[in-house]
Amino acid sequence: MIFDPMKPDLQQKFEELFNQPATAGFFAPGRVNLIGEHIDYNGGLVLPCAITFGTNLLVAENKEGVFRFRSLDFEDQLDIPVQEKYEKQGKEWFNYPLGVMQQFLGHKKSIKGLDMLFQGNVPVASGLSSSASVEVVTAFALNETYKSGFLKLELVQMGKSVENDFIGVNSGIMDQFAVAFGEKNKAIELNCDTLKYKIVNCDLQDYVLAIINTKKPRKLSESKYNERVEECQTALKELNKELHLDYLCEIDTETFNKHAHLISNETVKKRARHVIEENDRVKEATKVLADGELHRFGELLYASHASLKNLYEVTGKELDTVVEFCKEQKTVAGARMTGAGFGGCAIALVEKNGYDDFAKNIIQYYTSIIGYQPEVYNSLIGDGVKEV
Ligand code: GLA
Repeated sequence: MIFDPMKPDLQQKFEELFNQPATAGFFAPGRVNLIGEHIDYNGGLVLPCAITFGTNLLVAENKEGVFRFRSLDFEDQLDIPVQEKYEKQGKEWFNYPLGVMQQFLGHKKSIKGLDMLFQGNVPVASGLSSSASVEVVTAFALNETYKSGFLKLELVQMGKSVENDFIGVNSGIMDQFAVAFGEKNKAIELNCDTLKYKIVNCDLQDYVLAIINTKKPRKLSESKYNERVEECQTALKELNKELHLDYLCEIDTETFNKHAHLISNETVKKRARHVIEENDRVKEATKVLADGELHRFGELLYASHASLKNLYEVTGKELDTVVEFCKEQKTVAGARMTGAGFGGCAIALVEKNGYDDFAKNIIQYYTSIIGYQPEVYNSLIGDGVKEV
């Protein structure tokens, strides 16, 4: 399913809702992370790419000095006057763009009333960064509309601040970065400490990237996510009894092995081991992907999943069922969970010729074990945020 972002019915809907035509339209994608999970807040390497699912936003300034948030995907809506400060309001979707407004105000940017209509097809709470997509499309649209002059990287950082300070999730920068800087058929190797990045050719040859949405509701996922962030901070503190690290990912597996005894709690030690070994895996994965060695790339995907299951403990029965099924298929080179985990989506590298059977069989198998159906998408790697 690919959007036509300016499709007439969206325009028409905008006019119906706001009694004026939209003056500009924007699009930001969702993302998958190919490998490098729970690494960004530990200052290491990640390898995400933007996907063709995304969020459209149409805007027009209004003279009433009010922000009007509407979505074709959610019933909740908000009209709020332009004011000095905003606070999160319940758990509604409009908190994400509202948090972005707060960021612009915090930077003392003058902003006027704006009518906004959102429409998206990134499955929500599925680990494909629907929230980063909304944040980045809003920040990009405000920057263009008000001619605020922020760099794209600054918009990315604002999106992260929305998550951290407005929504209350201590997430890293990967999602917003991928959504903003993604390129068609490319992955991004991002160093989350320096924010230097490399565009990596993502030629999947005879394979396609399948996304399997477990549809597992991600209850408590935010608190468990924050718990993992804290465990990593504890590990860092203990390692720093002898080392001088800003982030766990500053050391490789060999150095970690020499100092692992400093970490007293076995669970915390497992968390740190995942992070450091996963970071090493990303280095190899980037190289083999660029060299077209997709079999090895697939093995690294499986290894990443095993580590997220056994050491980081963020997978769960649903994601594990998907990956176990994949392992039995000759047409699959590799698979793993993607995003925060605790439900959400897995990715699999599936031979083009076998894709239809794969999709059919995994739906059948998963449903027989879990009791409800997953969704399977044949994903395309798309562009980052843009005006349309
Ligand atoms: C979520 C967060 C990201 C990242 C991933 C795990 O998607 O938003 O910052 O930490 O989980 O890799």
